[in-house]
Amino acid sequence: MVRAQGGILLLLLRILLCSVFPETNIASGIGSLVYGNKPDAAASALFSCYHAQHIPDPITMGAYLRGIPSRSLRMHRIWWSKHRHRLALSIFTHSDLDRLKSLERQCRGYPGGLITVAVWVPIIAEATTPPAPGQKPQSGYNLTAAQSAMLANATNTVDRFYTTFESPAINSSANGSSYPHTCILRIVLVYELVANDIMAALMPLNILRNTAMLMATTPLVAMVDADMLFNWGLAAKVLMNTSRVVMMEHKAMRELTVWVIPIFDTNTTRSIPERVSLAEEAVADGRNPKAKLLDMWHKRGDVYPYGMYGYTLGHGPTNYEIWSNTSSDYNVTYQTGYEPFFIVARKALIPYDSRFRYVQQIAH
Ligand SMILES: *[C@@H]1O[C@H](CO)[C@@H](O)[C@H](O)[C@H]1NC(C)=O
Ligand SMILES: *[C@@H]1O[C@H](CO)[C@@H](O)[C@H](O)[C@H]1NC(C)=O
Ligand SMILES: *[C@@H]1O[C@H](CO)[C@@H](O)[C@H](O)[C@H]1NC(C)=O
Ligand SMILES: *[C@@H]1O[C@H](CO)[C@@H](O)[C@H](O)[C@H]1NC(C)=O
Ligand SMILES: *[C@@H]1O[C@H](CO)[C@@H](O)[C@H](O)[C@H]1NC(C)=O
Ligand SMILES: *[C@@H]1O[C@H](CO)[C@@H](O)[C@H](O)[C@H]1NC(C)=O
Ligand SMILES: *[C@@H]1O[C@H](CO)[C@@H](O)[C@H](O)[C@H]1NC(C)=O
Ligand SMILES: *[C@@H]1O[C@H](CO)[C@@H](O)[C@H](O)[C@H]1NC(C)=O
Repeated sequence: MVRAQGGILLLLLRILLCSVFPETNIASGIGSLVYGNKPDAAASALFSCYHAQHIPDPITMGAYLRGIPSRSLRMHRIWWSKHRHRLALSIFTHSDLDRLKSLERQCRGYPGGLITVAVWVPIIAEATTPPAPGQKPQSGYNLTAAQSAMLANATNTVDRFYTTFESPAINSSANGSSYPHTCILRIVLVYELVANDIMAALMPLNILRNTAMLMATTPLVAMVDADMLFNWGLAAKVLMNTSRVVMMEHKAMRELTVWVIPIFDTNTTRSIPERVSLAEEAVADGRNPKAKLLDMWHKRGDVYPYGMYGYTLGHGPTNYEIWSNTSSDYNVTYQTGYEPFFIVARKALIPYDSRFRYVQQIAH
């Protein structure tokens, strides 16, 4: 167990160390609506800091089961938008190449806000030839030609995704306003050396969340999954309200308050395309986004609180009945099993437990 704990400490240290670097390059003012930055300096500081902690030994099943977090992740490329984000809250999330499609919808629903993403590509290490007698074993791992081609391919995929959001944001002033139509993206493509195909199927989601968090530079952050869409009201009613944001930043820092994000699911009896369009309807632009959502829940049965008919402990304490008929803050009491998504002060967020992979859910 001592070794496992050593591993965790190192990883925590890695997160803490890396958190220091980007910040020195990034100006951010409490209460200000514009968070400027110097993209190239911040991205390269993050890059070198992350790599200083890298160990090129593929993560094995045995190490995973003993609770030793992987250290064979490596940043391959960072895409750091040149555009300014306008909201005090960054969203951070993990993804693989398949989830980029979901992320696209998410990005369109968070105009002007920063979304940071760690995209994961596992690479199964080929067995190395054992050293000849009397020779020292080779250290490090060189990608094979096929692995490099696969990584180049993944890079192209992410690059295409990023470019579709990066370019239109430039001419968003066509409307006479310069407010962006989509989110502002910072993406890192990381690859991980893994020992076999089982490990390649177990996404190190907490390490990826921590990695994505390192690119967030706003006072407030929230981790969400890539397949969640944001209600228009989050940006329009909450984050564009300066006095409210100032209050949230203050409470988040001084009182360690977190704000639970209510989440909804679409009615599972409907077809997939129907569910997608219901989700889009539920979050769309509108005069009173919350009233529309409540209507879809109470009157039409199109959506309902996530987990309401499944693992009720997970989101039950959020108390959607109270939420339905108040527009003020209210207190939620923690209960064992509660796993809400929430908004928190970036500097108060404890890194996610890096030993967990795949579906072992959210654990700090
Ligand atoms: C990786 O490639 C470099 C340069 O081609 C070589 O010097 C090094 O020994 C290789 N390392 C391994 C582990 O094969
Ligand atoms: C690259 O991506 C394309 C399309 O996604 C796929 O057809 C092709 O097999 C990939 N090549 C490699 C080397 O992974
Ligand atoms: C942005 O400019 C490009 C090229 O000039 C154009 O094709 C595209 O339609 C424009 N997008 C918007 C949202 O105006
Ligand atoms: C133009 O700007 C207004 C006000 O900012 C906004 O409500 C509207 O959706 C924008 N129109 C387009 C086509 O983006
Ligand atoms: C902004 O937030 C404050 C504090 O929560 C609230 O009293 C006020 O009504 C909000 N303003 C608007 C325009 O929603
Ligand atoms: C889901 O939709 C079906 C069919 O429209 C409806 O009968 C059911 O009550 C809905 N479920 C919920 C929980 O609202
Ligand atoms: C809150 O909702 C409940 C039903 O969910 C309703 O009976 C009650 O009247 C509502 N309270 C207010 C103040 O609207
Ligand atoms: C929530 O609880 C805190 C601490 O007990 C208390 O100070 C605060 O007034 C409560 N807020 C509400 C809205 O009840």
